[in-house]
Amino acid sequence: MGYNRNFDFKVEAVDGFSRARTGVLKTPHGEIKTPVFMPVGTQATVKAMTNDQVLECGAQIILGNTYHLYMRPGHELIREAGGLHQFMNWKKPILTDSGGFQVFSLGDLRKLTEEGAAFQSHLDGSRHMFTPEKVVAIQEALGSDIMMVLDECTPYPADFAYTKHSMERTHRWAKRCRDAQQNDKQALFGIVQGGMYPELRKISAEEIARLDFIGNAIGGLSVGEPKPMMYEMLDAVTEILPEDKPRYLMGVGSADCLVEGVARGVDMFDCVLQTRIARNGTALVRNGKLVIRNAEYAKDFRPIDESCDCYACRNHTRAYIRHLVKTNEILGAILLSIHNTRFTIRLMEEIRGHIQTGTFEEFRREFMADFQI
Ligand code: GUN
Ligand code: ZN
Repeated sequence: MGYNRNFDFKVEAVDGFSRARTGVLKTPHGEIKTPVFMPVGTQATVKAMTNDQVLECGAQIILGNTYHLYMRPGHELIREAGGLHQFMNWKKPILTDSGGFQVFSLGDLRKLTEEGAAFQSHLDGSRHMFTPEKVVAIQEALGSDIMMVLDECTPYPADFAYTKHSMERTHRWAKRCRDAQQNDKQALFGIVQGGMYPELRKISAEEIARLDFIGNAIGGLSVGEPKPMMYEMLDAVTEILPEDKPRYLMGVGSADCLVEGVARGVDMFDCVLQTRIARNGTALVRNGKLVIRNAEYAKDFRPIDESCDCYACRNHTRAYIRHLVKTNEILGAILLSIHNTRFTIRLMEEIRGHIQTGTFEEFRREFMADFQI
């Protein structure tokens, strides 16, 4: 499955100081300029936003979740609708996560074996089984451009013996996923695991690289470990993963981690943070966060961010958005979701520009100096 004419990744500019690079990933639903941030649309919707709003934020690709869509409305229904793109009327690329990660967060409701992950529905308690073959078949019914292999996101902390056992099973699942794929209209990405052990991370990167997927993801990070530890794991892995394939850091999306991830050679990111904190009244700004609910913004008639070009910042004030949040008006969540999504995508646009003009290192230094959690 190494070669697939429907997909192509070309590195364009390479930074002289770090592993940062820009590139273009070609998919059947269009080209993606990398590094890219992918808004999360778990239930076939980026929460609180219309497709037009997501597009206006500059989104090039969104993410969907196999677990949620398999449960409701069911992958067969989505197949009948003509696939996930048709069902939700999203015309650009879609990446689907395999469901492994969501199943693992079910806690007591799941059990892992060599065969796969057995679990009970969080909705009605019904019993299900995700095998590598099954999650590929579900993602083929969904018709996403990029499918993910079934993996185990090793919990943190975990001892060496368990982490190694879990990683090796993830490798066997990755190979089974690869062998189960039925078409070349979709790309399958492998996922590197290995917990917080650099030596396991290296073995995992080598094994996943050897399986020759179209792209390689890095999982099991941002699971509660300190940031320097995550950066150390990233360094260990991106050194090994092939330069000529996209690298995707799963579930990571705070601004500092995006900048530091790009510096380590990551090309793709996704995160629920942007839209999740929007729904509880928090806006992302250059030096961190702005809790719009706070009394200090009651008579603040400036936009959330003077330099932001999003719909919310072009049309509304902090005082107004604070009022919406305080009164639990839906529009508050909508405006903050638009702003946070645009903020993050604009950051990626800026990063790409700096890599292209050779100023990324300077940008990174200034950005990290200004950033507070
Ligand atoms: N999303 C965030 N982390 C992970 C991971 O380790 N595996 C998968 N499949 N999805 C993720
Ligand atoms: Zn804005």
